[in-house]
Amino acid sequence: MRTTDESIVLGLHRSGHSRDLLEAASDLGIRRIDTASNYLRHRSHETLKNTAGNLLPNFSVSTKVGFFPEGHSLDPARLRIAVEQAVRDLGHEPDLVFLHNPEHSTSDAGTLGPACAALADTARAGLCRSWGVSTWDPRPLVNLDVPRPDVLMVRAGLLVGADVLEAAEALVTRWRPSQVWGMSPFGGSTAQEVWGRFDPGVFLRGSASVTKVQAAFRSSYVLPRVDTVAVGTDNVAHLRELAEALAHEVDMNVVQEYRQLLKSRQLA
Ligand SMILES: NC(=O)c1ccc[n+]([C@@H]2O[C@H](COP(=O)([O-])OP(=O)(O)OC[C@H]3O[C@@H](n4cnc5c(N)ncnc54)[C@H](OP(=O)(O)O)[C@@H]3O)[C@@H](O)[C@H]2O)c1
Repeated sequence: MRTTDESIVLGLHRSGHSRDLLEAASDLGIRRIDTASNYLRHRSHETLKNTAGNLLPNFSVSTKVGFFPEGHSLDPARLRIAVEQAVRDLGHEPDLVFLHNPEHSTSDAGTLGPACAALADTARAGLCRSWGVSTWDPRPLVNLDVPRPDVLMVRAGLLVGADVLEAAEALVTRWRPSQVWGMSPFGGSTAQEVWGRFDPGVFLRGSASVTKVQAAFRSSYVLPRVDTVAVGTDNVAHLRELAEALAHEVDMNVVQEYRQLLKSRQLA
């Protein structure tokens, strides 16, 4: 099945960056890949250029800056240098650059604002097409104002707790990004014990033929509501299974009930 839309982002966080995988993703119609300057032990960008440079024009490439070999930093000058380095290592300007987990270094607007402004400047200077913020834990950021990002990326899916879901939704309201991306729909692994304990098929309408992985993946698009989801796999059959999940419909009544359960558990 080809997904010629942009509903799936192939995330490279845990990936070996093989050319075969990117060829298969391209054949499946997947149009977005997501990496970061620190993925693959800080060698993701140059590895992508070396192994799949001529495939990269098939994709919209997003990356992230903020984690350096010496640690995390939101220093505007360092962020700018990191974007310039990404352009050199990838061999072309990325389509999107995220500020990577800013909550690591700040919960104050005096630091976050200039860091975001530095990324907005790189987009204005043509070093990337657009910029955004990717946050694993948005809770420390909910009261902070920043320049309006093009994209906000947040955790998505059935393993995200009520507090993180609410914080992500609060940020969407406050920052008004043009797009919201979800990430890590399986919380990093489908082998976790939790996935054996229930059947996510209940979240879909008419789910007889759906696999558990497909149901969990499809549900992640509404927990919270996102435009696309960054998911990781190094397995072409798994990627195809994910692409096929998009044909299924989520039962929003079940999602609402689930949100209420999460909320009551949080309050208990
Ligand atoms: N703070 C941030 O900015 C941040 C943090 C985390 C993630 N992300 C983004 O989100 C992307 C995805 O996150 P993630 O890789 O941590 O977690 P994930 O997508 O929740 O889980 C990836 C795992 O799911 C397995 N999987 C995928 N499809 C499967 C299938 N059909 N059947 C069985 N197993 C399947 C993969 O194993 P196989 O390889 O065996 O298929 C892989 O180990 C990252 O690459 C990155 O782009 C961003």
